[in-house]
Amino acid sequence: MNAQPRRVEHQQTDKGSVPVYTTAVVEQPWDSYSPADHATWATLFERQQQLLVGRACREFLDNQQHFGMTPDAIPKFEDLNRVLAGSTGWRIIGVEGLLPELTFFDHLANRRFPVTWWIRKPEQIDYIAEPDLFHDLFGHVPLLLNPVFADYMQAYGCGGVKAHSLGPDALVHLTRLYWYTVEFGLIRQDDGLRIYGSGIVSSKGESIHCLESAAPNRIGFDMRRIMRTRYRIDTYQKTYFVIDSFQQLMDATDPDFTPIYRELASQESIPAGSVLQSDNVYNRGSGEGWAADGDV
Ligand SMILES: [Fe+2]
Repeated sequence: MNAQPRRVEHQQTDKGSVPVYTTAVVEQPWDSYSPADHATWATLFERQQQLLVGRACREFLDNQQHFGMTPDAIPKFEDLNRVLAGSTGWRIIGVEGLLPELTFFDHLANRRFPVTWWIRKPEQIDYIAEPDLFHDLFGHVPLLLNPVFADYMQAYGCGGVKAHSLGPDALVHLTRLYWYTVEFGLIRQDDGLRIYGSGIVSSKGESIHCLESAAPNRIGFDMRRIMRTRYRIDTYQKTYFVIDSFQQLMDATDPDFTPIYRELASQESIPAGSVLQSDNVYNRGSGEGWAADGDV
């Protein structure tokens, strides 16, 4: 029998109809994964692993190896947690799916990373609208072994708890930072631009598109600029932001964001595909294939 997510209901939001799950931490029901579930993991793992050599940043590839992840079977959270406990002190917890913002931030602030325990169906191999085990585990977990990135994730969680108390505008600005770094970030390394964003490494198409297509903008990291920039949830990104190092990300979270949110409140948000005069442009996108609307 295929292990099924336990969905509570669907809710209508500004991002469409979204599934709502219990916020409870659940034990990974490893024994209930079917052969088809493990086969889905194997297919995705092998495909992405091959594709990411020379495309993902070296920290991602090295750490994935360090965890001992293989295509043979869906990893056990407890095995990964043993490795994490001996390094950055992060811990993976099993969840049913997307969490409410404050619950999610609180986990990160306490160095707990929620991983959806179920994996997509074979017919969803190339695209699934919501995070599943492959995205959460393959995409996010390797960099939790990097000490600087691990600290950045925690700092983001603390910032999220605070932004949540400040109101919806602060949250909109902070969420964009997560989107353009943790999910869709690029990093400049000695041998060229490389991927570190989880949304990219878990997607075959976007892993190629973000580096090799002429369509998207590739722009140097600028925190305020990112916080003003809208993004895509239903297509590849129109713009990727490039960091020089994980330390640059960590340093960006040093200041108190409260006055920054205040400053940004009076500024227009920037469409996902725009290039500004002040941008440090690596590639000005050709815009080929862009949808005219749909930025969130
Ligand atoms: Fe994610």
